[in-house]
Amino acid sequence: MITPDFTPASLKDRPDLIAPVKEICAAAWPEFMNHDEIVGEYWWQLYENYLEYQFALLEPGSGKIAAVGNCIPMERRVVPGQLDDGGLDWILREVCEGKPGGRLSGRTLFALQIISAPNWRGKAVSTKTVQHMIAIGKAHKCTSLYAPVRPNRKSLYPLTPMERYVNWKTREGMPFDPWMRVHVRLGAEVVKVCPESMYMSGTVAEWESWTGLLFPESGQYVISGALVPILIDLANDIGMYLEPNVWMHHRIE
Ligand SMILES: CC(C)(COP(=O)(O)OP(=O)(O)OC[C@H]1O[C@@H](n2cnc3c(N)ncnc32)[C@H](O)[C@@H]1OP(=O)(O)O)[C@@H](O)C(=O)NCCC(=O)NCCS
Repeated sequence: MITPDFTPASLKDRPDLIAPVKEICAAAWPEFMNHDEIVGEYWWQLYENYLEYQFALLEPGSGKIAAVGNCIPMERRVVPGQLDDGGLDWILREVCEGKPGGRLSGRTLFALQIISAPNWRGKAVSTKTVQHMIAIGKAHKCTSLYAPVRPNRKSLYPLTPMERYVNWKTREGMPFDPWMRVHVRLGAEVVKVCPESMYMSGTVAEWESWTGLLFPESGQYVISGALVPILIDLANDIGMYLEPNVWMHHRIE
């Protein structure tokens, strides 16, 4: 199919899009994904302090939102070896807590989230979204875009360790995972797994309400939409989910 020419809209220029963008994002994830503590603490800053890094791609003609991108800059150059196991949570902490870190002068862009509107999935709009993120990085003099990628088919293989999954290949030698393929086709390299990219915890009753399941015993459970099993501990009334993602690196020329 021919991908139409979407119009990128920065949320700094189009604050009227903030509410519909947030709606698309909220609808994209299973409920348990909304309970990462670090995200809860810092995500609002994207819409207060980093609006020029948040954007939508708009359909030609109607101007409806076809896709959404969230990214954030770090005020230093980051090399692949400095990427942390903490993935997405690490990015938010480093940037929003203003951590000094290792000082290599420059600026680095980090992808936080890309979502295609449901009616646009499977039509390659995500490629345009990644390309626009790279263009934002270029405009802000970033030399790299790093993404803690959430492989979108991993939830169908929750028992396979992420380290093995990210090495699965198609017959053509491309990543088995469709979302990783989009990044690789655009020139990204896999750096390494970030095993602790997101962390969600709650009481057992909360996990039951988030998932619609009952957890009668302590132990591991496979739940819909999660990349690995969750752990339920009845004695301490806690459920935990530690989500692994995979660091991918786009060089910005
Ligand atoms: C992941 C996501 C952004 C991909 O966006 P998209 O615009 O649908 O991507 P594309 O159309 O470029 O498709 C990418 C690949 O997925 C495949 N694909 C897309 N939708 C599919 C579907 N419903 N069933 C099977 N494969 C599908 C495409 O065939 C393509 O693979 P290819 O390499 O064989 O061509 C989108 O599915 C989405 O928004 N998901 C929910 C949020 C999410 O997971 N975001 C990513 C983490 S932040």
